[in-house]
Amino acid sequence: MTKMLADPPPGLTAVPGDGGLPYVGYSLDYMRDPVGTNDRRYREYGPVSWFRFAGNPWVVLLGPDACGAALQNRDRALANGPGWRVLIGPFFDRGLMLLDGDEHTAHRRIMQQAFTRDRLAGYTDSLHPAVEKALETWSPQTDFRAYPALKELTLGLATSIFMGGAEGSSHAEMAEVNKAFIGCVQAATAIVRYPLPGTRWRRGVVGRRRLEEFFRRYLPARRAGSGDDLFTALCHVESEDGERFTDDDVVNHMIFLMMAAHDTSTITLSTAMQYLGQFPQWQQACREESEALGTTTPTLDQLEELTSLDLVIKECQRLVTPVPGIVRRAVADTEILGHYIPRGTLVNVGLHYTHHMPELWPDPERFDPGRFSPERREDRVHKYAWSPFGGGVHRCLGMYFSSAEVKTVLHHLLLGYHWHVPADYVAPMNFTSLPFPSDGQPIDLRRR
Ligand code: HEM
Repeated sequence: MTKMLADPPPGLTAVPGDGGLPYVGYSLDYMRDPVGTNDRRYREYGPVSWFRFAGNPWVVLLGPDACGAALQNRDRALANGPGWRVLIGPFFDRGLMLLDGDEHTAHRRIMQQAFTRDRLAGYTDSLHPAVEKALETWSPQTDFRAYPALKELTLGLATSIFMGGAEGSSHAEMAEVNKAFIGCVQAATAIVRYPLPGTRWRRGVVGRRRLEEFFRRYLPARRAGSGDDLFTALCHVESEDGERFTDDDVVNHMIFLMMAAHDTSTITLSTAMQYLGQFPQWQQACREESEALGTTTPTLDQLEELTSLDLVIKECQRLVTPVPGIVRRAVADTEILGHYIPRGTLVNVGLHYTHHMPELWPDPERFDPGRFSPERREDRVHKYAWSPFGGGVHRCLGMYFSSAEVKTVLHHLLLGYHWHVPADYVAPMNFTSLPFPSDGQPIDLRRR
C-alpha cells in the first residue's frame, strides 16, 4: 500500500513508497534479485521512492536523472560520512569517501597528487612483478575457483603497490595484517553491531586497531623514504597550496584505500574472467591485442592500446556494478526531482539498476562490449547512464589506477592461460554487501 514519506512543503511532491516487511523492508527481495526488485519499484513508484530498513526509512534513487541529481548534490544537502557510516560502520572513518564539505575538498586536493599520471605509470611498472609472483601460485584445473584466487591476488597487489611490500615485516605479520583488514571489511556488514566476544563486529574493532598499529610503525620510515609505493606517496604529497597530510590522516587514508581498492577490482576481474570464458571470440580478440603489444610488461601508455579489453571491462562493470548503490544522508531538507527529502533521510543511489534499465540499454542483460565502441557509444544516452565510479566531487579517485590494475592482471592471464566457462552458466551472485559469486566462480583454466 502506497504511503508518503513525509508531508512536503508547498511546491514539492511527497516521496511515494511503502515500508515492506517489518525491520528488513525489501532487503531480502533485493538480495535475491536486485534488478527485478528495483524494476518493480521503479514501475510502481518512479525514480524516487522509499522503503524501511533497519528501523530507518531509505529513499531509493533509480535511473540516471535521480542518480545524477544526488551525485551532483548542488545544494550540498547530501552528506557522505553520516550516510556511509550507517552501512560500513566506524572501520573506515576519516577515509576520503567519508569526509564532507571543505574538509573533503582539502584532503582530495592533497590525495590527487598521489594519483597523477606519472605516479600511475610508476605503480603500473611495480604491478607486473607482483602479478607474476601471484600467478605462480595458481594451479590451473577444470574446476578452478576464480573469485577467491583473484581476491588473494588483489590483496597481494595492494600490499606491494600500496605499502611497498612493508619491508622487514615477516610473512606471518603480513598474514595477520591481511586478517585484520578482512576483519574490518566483514564487520562493516555485520548484523550484530556491538563488540560482543566472538562477533564479526568485535573482529572489526580488533582489526582496525591492528591496522592502525601497523601503519603507524612504518610511518617514520615512509616519511623519511623515497619509495614509489602509495604509502610513501601519501607521506610526501602536497596540495598546490602546500598542505600535507598529518600522521593520523595517512593512517586513516591508507586503511580506507586498501578497502576501496580491494573488492571492487576483484569483482571486476572475476566478472571479466567469467564473460571472457563464455565468449571465446572476445577472449581471442583481447589476447590478440595483448600479443600485439609484444611485451609481458606493458607501460601505462601501452595498456591503453588494449581497446577490446577496455570495452569488456566497461561492459562487466555495467552488468555487475562493483558498488551497486552509493549511500548519502540528507543533513538539511532538500529535494530530488521535485520530491521532498527531509533532513536525516538516508538515500541509496541505485547505480546497478540504472545500468540495467531497458530504457537506456538495448537488451540490457546481454553481454555486448561493442555497445561501448566509438560507433555505438550506448553509454552516451545520458551523462549518468554508466557511472560505476560514481560522479560529482566524490567520483572515484582510483578509477585510472583500477583500470591499470585490472588490465595488467588480465593481460598476464590472456598471455599465460586460456579458460572456458559454459555458455549457460549464471553466477549465483551474493548482494549482501558488495557483489560476489557465492560459488567462487568455477572456470576451466589451462596454461597455454
Ligand atoms: C573497479 C574498481 C572500483 C570501483 C568500481 C570504484 C567505485 C567507487 C565509487 C562508486 C566511489 C564513489 C563513492 C561515493 O560517491 O560515495 C568511489 C570512491 C573512491 N574510490 Fe573507488 N572504485 C574502484 C577502485 C578504486 C581503487 C583501486 C582505489 C584506490 C587506489 C579507489 C579509491 C577511491 C577513493 C579514494 C574514493 C573516495 C573519493 C572521494 O570521496 O573523493 N577506488 N569508488
